[in-house]
Amino acid sequence: MDCSSLGHTCVVGLHWGDEGKGKIVDLLSEHFDIVVRFNGGGNAGHTVVIAGERFALHLLPVGVLSPGRMAVIGPGVALDAGRLFEEIDALARRGIVVGDNLRVSDRAHLVMPWHKKQDVLSEQALGDDRIGTTARGIGPCYADKMQRATAVRVIDLLKPAELPARIARICELKNRIFAAAYGDAEPLDAGAVTAEYLALAERIRRHVCDTTRLFAESIAAGRRLLFEGANGMLLDIDHGTFPYVTSSTTSAIGVPAGAGVPSQTVRTVIGVTKAYTTRVGAGPFPSELRDETGQYIRDRGHEYGTTTGRPRRCGWFDAVAARYSVSFGGITAVAVMHLDTLTGLQRVGICTGYRVRDGLLPGFVTDCSLLEQAEPVLEFLPGWDADISAARRVADLPPAARNYLDRLEELLGVPVTIVSVGPDRSQTLMRP
Ligand code: IMP
Repeated sequence: MDCSSLGHTCVVGLHWGDEGKGKIVDLLSEHFDIVVRFNGGGNAGHTVVIAGERFALHLLPVGVLSPGRMAVIGPGVALDAGRLFEEIDALARRGIVVGDNLRVSDRAHLVMPWHKKQDVLSEQALGDDRIGTTARGIGPCYADKMQRATAVRVIDLLKPAELPARIARICELKNRIFAAAYGDAEPLDAGAVTAEYLALAERIRRHVCDTTRLFAESIAAGRRLLFEGANGMLLDIDHGTFPYVTSSTTSAIGVPAGAGVPSQTVRTVIGVTKAYTTRVGAGPFPSELRDETGQYIRDRGHEYGTTTGRPRRCGWFDAVAARYSVSFGGITAVAVMHLDTLTGLQRVGICTGYRVRDGLLPGFVTDCSLLEQAEPVLEFLPGWDADISAARRVADLPPAARNYLDRLEELLGVPVTIVSVGPDRSQTLMRP
């Protein structure tokens, strides 16, 4: 793939998150001027390895790691301001300064302490029916955004004369709701929350701007934008496996609204997938491997959550689900990550269909009760034993690995242009 000729581009995950989007955004960053987050919040975990050093970002766009790039947090992000500065301070301790290169939309909604509290209380109350959220307050923050009366936006932080009364009013209401609905006996302290957010306001001020105008001017000036999708397309609030989803639009469909750019802006949509499939939290996962092969993949792929540390559920590559994401998300090219993780398996499976009692399903469905019953139709290809982590060209791969990639490409119907065989930038193969 010739990255130098790409137009405005969006990178998204084809399955349930953790596909390796961070590495792809990092690799592409040098060809773009501005890297933009448009959805989700601290629930995301984007890992990048540069010269052996590992960086795990949750809120900061990965572009902050590339010198000379601007990084923007768009209006569609659920922003936990405290965590944002924890991330900025952690990078500073490692010699990476985040300053005027970071811009934050004045319209972004803030994840407030009551959102994180509600996330935990709600999950506890749901018991066995819980969604398995990351407890980062994402759902409650977006719910208040839609509710409006109980929302706090970045722009509100810039009005210190009005902020204390707003926080006091919302705390009082939330305390009553939490006590009545969950029997919560530890009310939020409005004074402490206000003090915390007045301090955060002073820090965030220099980064805040009207990012919609910034994008319009940048696009007009010929600057190139890279949109960094968070979570995964099957976690999409409208098109994912509801209710086992996150609360934002996780595909490139979300870029115009979540970033604030015209709908025809994005020219290339890169769908990132692992060479197998994983999921964290609850919800159907037809190709899941609950056996030693699943454990083998988990161990070799270090499949433990970047955000929560939870072990990820692992399974064969789900081509039915990926094809659905390719179709509704307008994917133009695919990046296959973690191909090296499958090394050592005698045979490698691909889920090519879902079987239910009445026969084969016509394709992916978002009805979770139907998906829970679906048995995977599996196709097996020969595996490979050779260590492929040092491969630098597709020609360096054993025939069985090349054959596997060809089959994935055939099933997805779009070109597989990037292949990753390890976490480092150098462990990336470009397919013509
Ligand atoms: P929430 O986004 O914290 O509300 O979690 C809702 C569901 O989405 C849970 O199953 C989470 O595990 C999952 N989820 C949210 N963000 C990510 C992500 O970045 N990677 C993987 N799973 C995620």
